[in-house]
Amino acid sequence: MNTFEASVEKLCSASIKDYINPYSYLEWPEKIDTEQWSTTPELISLYGTPFYDGLSTAEQQRLSFYEAINFFSLNIHGEKSLIEGLAQRLYRKGNDLVSPYIHHFLDEENKHMIYFGGFCVRYAGKVYPDRKMVFTREYEPGEDDFMFFGKVLIFEEIVDVYNKRMAKDERLAPIVRQINFLHHRDESRHLAFGRLLVKNMYERYSDVWSMDTRERISEYLKNYLQATWKEYYNPAAYKDAGLKDAFDVQEQALQMQATRKHRAEVSAGCIRFLMENGILLEQPQL
Ligand SMILES: [Fe+2]
Ligand SMILES: [Fe+2]
Repeated sequence: MNTFEASVEKLCSASIKDYINPYSYLEWPEKIDTEQWSTTPELISLYGTPFYDGLSTAEQQRLSFYEAINFFSLNIHGEKSLIEGLAQRLYRKGNDLVSPYIHHFLDEENKHMIYFGGFCVRYAGKVYPDRKMVFTREYEPGEDDFMFFGKVLIFEEIVDVYNKRMAKDERLAPIVRQINFLHHRDESRHLAFGRLLVKNMYERYSDVWSMDTRERISEYLKNYLQATWKEYYNPAAYKDAGLKDAFDVQEQALQMQATRKHRAEVSAGCIRFLMENGILLEQPQL
């Protein structure tokens, strides 16, 4: 058994050990007080900008609630397309080694949507709609698969930074902390799998791909990273939190030094991995 195979097998055993029933695990409070923190203040998209500083604590907390609804909503949309892509790859020719793990991946992502959706529908009565644009185009052999798992890696690595911080933040409503903790617990395996597979695939394919293809992949993943970040700045959440001119707030906040610094800091680990492995060919501007 090679190292790749052994690592996948280890991840499968860990998933079996951590298997839970998502319906009996969490205790949902009747309602959530929006005048408490539902997102770590420093992780709120507008933190460090005049838009945030101009709010009272109660207003910042209200914004933190809708930011949690946005964070959970964007997770649901990411997980929906993840499940679609994983299901297509399950038992596909050439995937014998990873199919047993894909079963766990599918199972765990479905559970995550049960927690995230449970929170959004119970306490906000809605999930924010998906805002991400999807581009389709022609691919070279292996490119489609590689990009799928590359996108999954970027998406999950950013989310996990938020999950880890919020799982530990005692200022947050307990249910929010629990959801972040549960998600991080499963995601630590998904991240290990993602890095293992993305590295393995790139090693296999980069020799057969032309330099043009490698540049295109780098560009595509850079755009994906930027599009992923944009979702964290949701005008609908700003509007629900009572902010005026929500679209202007989004546009201006994205340009501000404080938010650029935040995005660079949260993405640092993921970007380092992609650059060290030659996948991203230049440092992306966030
Ligand atoms: Fe997930
Ligand atoms: Fe995941």
